[in-house]
Amino acid sequence: MSIDGVPGTPAARLVVLASGTGTLLQALLDACQRPEYPARVVAVGSDRVDAEALVRAQHAGVAAFALPVRAYPNRDEWDRALGEEVAGHRPDVVVLAGFMKLLSSEFLNRFPSRVINTHPALLPAFPGMHGVRDALAYGVKVTGCTLFVVDDGVDGGPVVAQAAVPVADIDDERSLHERIKVAERAMLVDTLDRMCRLGWTVTGRRVSIP
Ligand code: GAR
Repeated sequence: MSIDGVPGTPAARLVVLASGTGTLLQALLDACQRPEYPARVVAVGSDRVDAEALVRAQHAGVAAFALPVRAYPNRDEWDRALGEEVAGHRPDVVVLAGFMKLLSSEFLNRFPSRVINTHPALLPAFPGMHGVRDALAYGVKVTGCTLFVVDDGVDGGPVVAQAAVPVADIDDERSLHERIKVAERAMLVDTLDRMCRLGWTVTGRRVSIP
């Protein structure tokens, strides 16, 4: 695959995994419409057959697949099947965009340093499923979002990028999460742009994009 208008420049192949509404995915799909953007979404996968993200993929003419955990005898077999499906699309980067399942070391080792995830808080603060709710409950005045390289912990991998979002007195979980997602979409699109053009290295906990 080549970037339109720049013959011979390979566009990075993105496989995006999403469990929910997929607004982060949509931001990537929109960015990939720009000829100069250095990546293309080649497939979208979900653990939920009813994920809106799959509909967004279909509208964009991108391959979509759903692998619900309950369709497999156990979690290991689901994880292995997901790894096979993702690998079949030959990704340069696997993007977890609101994907609500943990992946095994076996899965991650197939794509070393190439699985990235976004989280709606400034890690290492407020990891886990309820980053926005936990930040509000703690009473922080600034929270945000984090893009990180996935390792076998929970939201603990090396940080690629972060963006800060102020918390307003009138915020509830929904309003704050919506504002975080605005920052998150920009962070994801802009950082992947740089990663795919320039490459990246992971040395211990330090990620650098030259
Ligand atoms: C995003 O805020 C993302 O950080 C979060 O789900 C949202 C997906 O939004 N992911 C996690 O919490 C992963 N633990 P979207 O469905 O609108 O793209």
